[in-house]
Amino acid sequence: DWTMEAYRDEAIRLIREQVGDKKVICGLSGGVDSSVAAVLIHEAIGENLTCVFVDHGLLRHNEADEVVAMFRDHYNIPLIHAEESELFLGALEGVSDPEEKRKTIGRLFIDVFQKYAGGIEGAEFLAQGTLYPDVIESVSFSGGPSVTIKSHHNVGGLPEKMGLKLVEPLRELFKDEVRALGHELGLPASFIGRHPFPGPGLAIRCPGEITREKLAILRKADAVYIDQIRRHGLYDEIWQAFVAILPVRTVGVMGDGRTYDFACALRAVTSVDGMTADYYPFSHEFLGETATRIINEVKGINRVTYDITSKPPGTIEWE
Ligand code: XMP
Repeated sequence: DWTMEAYRDEAIRLIREQVGDKKVICGLSGGVDSSVAAVLIHEAIGENLTCVFVDHGLLRHNEADEVVAMFRDHYNIPLIHAEESELFLGALEGVSDPEEKRKTIGRLFIDVFQKYAGGIEGAEFLAQGTLYPDVIESVSFSGGPSVTIKSHHNVGGLPEKMGLKLVEPLRELFKDEVRALGHELGLPASFIGRHPFPGPGLAIRCPGEITREKLAILRKADAVYIDQIRRHGLYDEIWQAFVAILPVRTVGVMGDGRTYDFACALRAVTSVDGMTADYYPFSHEFLGETATRIINEVKGINRVTYDITSKPPGTIEWE
């Protein structure tokens, strides 16, 4: 009978059979799929795997350090940290249209990945954490929204361009099976249970023009919000939660002074697959406490709102 342990062993055998003693490059996003793929391939071929982690400067608080610490230091997987935030943030200056942001980030992402991956001597394979639903979607809804959503991380067209063959060890799995496999491979539960995070990152949680100042404020507010959610034991009940910093300053009072700072919106939804979603029914106590903490702890925000739009008609992200 079928167990995840048997599946893991068979997957490792198949990777060895496909790859032999050749080198593999894996684009690591910090998400569950690419992480599980990386650890699985590392078990199969060890040092012949090199991961490339593109850091576009649009990650959450501590995210890059955590990914590097886990893969390079804990798992000893050769990892290139492509710290290119200046390049991305520079190119995004003055860009406020959501699709323009995605295109800019997507284009640079491929350039950067190619630059770093191209420096890995003798690589013949590119690993991707493609799941079964991605395989189905790209066949049946070609060109539809579900494909464009993922287009940025499944570096489309890149394998051909770089002359690399694909390794996709998760192609037959659904998300919950990938999590089970991650567990089997010893990935920490807190990591396996992480909320999804979009490829364009904080860029689409910063409606309008992106500035370093807004990104810094957003990171702090988001960290407080997620901390609140964890402290209240709600993280695993929620499919995705984040803060968006709004492109508007509003007036407030603090002490005996007037403030004129950014407003932010908290978002939390339940969902099965991200295609539809309901807003999470936090208690008023939770919301009030969270607003107070954010305003007290995050300089630059003086007003907190809660987004109660479900999907449809809203989207989960603000852009
Ligand atoms: P929306 O906002 O469309 O989001 O309701 C549905 C899910 O997709 C994620 N998302 C993206 N992921 N690149 C990604 O990799 C994108 O451009 C993108 N846009 C949205 C979003 O975080 C949610 O999980």
